[in-house]
Amino acid sequence: MALTIKENYPLKKHNTFSIAVKAAVFAEYDSEEGLAEVCSLVRNGMLPRPLLHIGSGSNLLFTKDFPGTILHSCIKTLEVMPEVKGKIPVKVGSGFLWDDFTAVCSERGWYGAENLTGIPGETGAATVQNIGAYGTEVKDIIHSVEAMDLETGERKCFTNPECGYGYRKSIFKLPENKRYIVTRTTFLMSAAPVWNLSYKALAEAFDGRTPESIQEVRQAVRSIRDSKLPDPAILGNAGSFFTNPIVPKGMAEELKASYPDIPVYGSGDPDTVKLSAGWMIDRAGWKGKSLGRAGVYGKQALVLVNLGGAEGNEIAALADAVRDSVMKMFGVELHPEVNIL
Ligand code: EPU
Repeated sequence: MALTIKENYPLKKHNTFSIAVKAAVFAEYDSEEGLAEVCSLVRNGMLPRPLLHIGSGSNLLFTKDFPGTILHSCIKTLEVMPEVKGKIPVKVGSGFLWDDFTAVCSERGWYGAENLTGIPGETGAATVQNIGAYGTEVKDIIHSVEAMDLETGERKCFTNPECGYGYRKSIFKLPENKRYIVTRTTFLMSAAPVWNLSYKALAEAFDGRTPESIQEVRQAVRSIRDSKLPDPAILGNAGSFFTNPIVPKGMAEELKASYPDIPVYGSGDPDTVKLSAGWMIDRAGWKGKSLGRAGVYGKQALVLVNLGGAEGNEIAALADAVRDSVMKMFGVELHPEVNIL
């Protein structure tokens, strides 16, 4: 397959909320040549716009059929380059499943991805979204990113600083850069351990002890995830529905006066702090509650779930209700992490 194109294509298996909608066109490619062909079909008006590039659909909420073309990468290559000063460069195709990559890292003894074990999705989307968990973000191990400009078919390589990474942010998410489609990401893995046990539950799991292996950290991460996050194969969800809000320091101080136990984290900027959306949603009384067939997960209030057969609009209505409650109670605006379409 260089390129396959299907019309009126069901998307239920391509979004982890399991919403049963259709795409006017679904195009899959397994090489840059295939993608270049899609780009030229789009430019020539042979494939309908708008365009949406998806990975595993683990960060999407469809509220209606998609009228344009959905693109999906099946570039699943993994190229290992020679070690340089204790770092192993590994170039991974955008369609390679992220968690399969963390498994390869563990098998080969490449350190740096273990805290990101178990995150659903594909490497291309992980690169765009700057996925993060348990004190690590994927930007911490990204060296450079290859992309194709959809409007010209040209290839471009972005260094890590050029990607403009921040909390769940990169230049690839900006409207003016939607033209760039990530095709391959080069990671710089460490040949020696670089443990990051800063996240509280992970620190508690090791209790001051140094991990013996990558597998041991992966196991600890898996058990923390399993205790808080539902398996999308069983209960449709897209992980955290909202990002943790970043607010001015003064606002957090005022909130702390009314809610002394509100968690407040550093944001990387001395003037602002990051609040915990899950804590606020929980405090607003939403944990385990539902509206129709959409629910707030009982073990982690930041996760909205499809209780069975929900339409996208039901999940979106629950998200609106949750956002209103948090605004009323705390005066804090929540922004979806999930892309609502
Ligand atoms: N909390 C509650 N009640 C809840 C949920 C959370 O009180 O229902 C409190 C927790 O006790 C803790 C704080 O809120 O004090 C933060 O909770 P947690 O550590 O579970 O993490 P989070 O901030 O809710 C973020 C990421 C997750 C990532 C975890 C671990 C975002 C939007 N979410 O969640 O990422 O796995 O930290 O690092 O930044 C995702 O992006 O989809 C995702 C799952």
